[in-house]
Amino acid sequence: MKNTTMDRKTFLANTTKIAVGAAVGVAGLNAVAGEKNMKVTAWPWPYASLDAEAARLKAHHLYWTDKDCASGVFGALVELLAEKTPDPWANMPMEVMLFGRGGGNGWGTLCGAVNGAAAVISLVATKADSGKLINEVWGWAATEKFPTDAANQASIDGKYVDKKFEGALPQSISGSVICHASVSQWCNVAGKKVADVERKERCARLAGDLAAKTVEVLNAHFASTFTSTYVRNAYAAQCLTCHGPSVKNNVMTEMNCEPCHGDPHNSPEPVEEHGFGTPSEFKLDQNYPNPFNPTTTIRFSIPAQQKVSLEIYDITGQMVKKLVDGELLSAGTFTAEWNGKDVLGSSVASGTYFARLTTDNFMRTIKLNMVK
Ligand code: HEC
Ligand code: HEC
Repeated sequence: MKNTTMDRKTFLANTTKIAVGAAVGVAGLNAVAGEKNMKVTAWPWPYASLDAEAARLKAHHLYWTDKDCASGVFGALVELLAEKTPDPWANMPMEVMLFGRGGGNGWGTLCGAVNGAAAVISLVATKADSGKLINEVWGWAATEKFPTDAANQASIDGKYVDKKFEGALPQSISGSVICHASVSQWCNVAGKKVADVERKERCARLAGDLAAKTVEVLNAHFASTFTSTYVRNAYAAQCLTCHGPSVKNNVMTEMNCEPCHGDPHNSPEPVEEHGFGTPSEFKLDQNYPNPFNPTTTIRFSIPAQQKVSLEIYDITGQMVKKLVDGELLSAGTFTAEWNGKDVLGSSVASGTYFARLTTDNFMRTIKLNMVK
């Protein structure tokens, strides 16, 4: 019987070498490894300018040869780099990224293609540089329509090795680097199922797109011609003015908040009240209860479809909260609720406030009393 268990003596001897390596750094490691004719290549690994279209076709092919999206993108660049610089690239197994398939073992989190792209970037660029290069690729991935025109054209031109589906595929912009969001939105746009060959081909083309984009970004970076075009999503930027480092400092993400949170600071939609018939005139009733603490209800009626705003002001005329923000409402009677909080979500102080209803041709104000 073959004994595969490392005996204690060998184990201790090896651990000592590793400990020595850690202490003396890469040069020391090379010396240690040298005893066994091994060479350790220091990070970051060497990059050589590549052909973006070759990377596209390779990633597409790897996707279909059981490497899926993450290893497909990673492997495309690794194989092309190995052609130019076998040492060390021929020793990098692309399968290290296999976990990234299906947004991480089918969990649908980070898109495998953007994951694989970032892994190559992290291997060849310093930490100081990799952040901006990854942002460039990921920002593009979140805002571009996929498969890109170039990816569809490659199929029309018969360039892909694997011809599982030929011709242009429907395109969608996911607005996200999340696999699940990207895949499911595309399925809806295309009217396809996750298991359909078109969906798989779509992800194969997306892998090709990411490989090509990553090559373009890395080529530019190492030719010193890279300029960042990444801008944080505008919706997220607005939320981060408060939730980012300068104020609340409780959120760390570049992702757009809207698909997951909407605007959580918005008031609930005004509710239509039935049993009043169609109102014959505009009305803004006194709020109830009044005085109130902390919540009060404001009822208003509109006789025709109108754009409606309902805003709360404090005694100095400062707007405290928008309850209805220029919404198009049909004729009817509605109630809006105010929870006594300002735009920042903080409870307001006791005192007098004003609620102002504005429509296309009506404006009226009532006085509210908050008493704590
Ligand atoms: C003007 C500053 C400000 C802006 C802008 C802002 N927030 Fe907030 N946010 C707050 C404050 C303050 C709280 C804490 C509120 C509380 O405790 O009632 C909060 C709480 C939250 C919460 C916690 C849930 C809750 O209801 O307490 C979420 C989620 C949130 N904000 C998301 C967002 C999103 C998404 C955006 C962008 C649309 C955004 N915020 C914009 C200040 C802000
Ligand atoms: C992919 C979906 C997603 C995106 C994008 C996202 N969030 Fe969240 N966020 C969540 C989830 C899920 C939670 C946990 C919610 C919970 O436990 O109730 C959360 C929690 C929060 C909380 C704490 C909520 C609480 O109840 O205290 C805040 C604040 C918040 N997010 C703000 C933001 C902001 C601001 C952005 C954009 C810059 C953002 N989020 C982007 C999904 C998301």
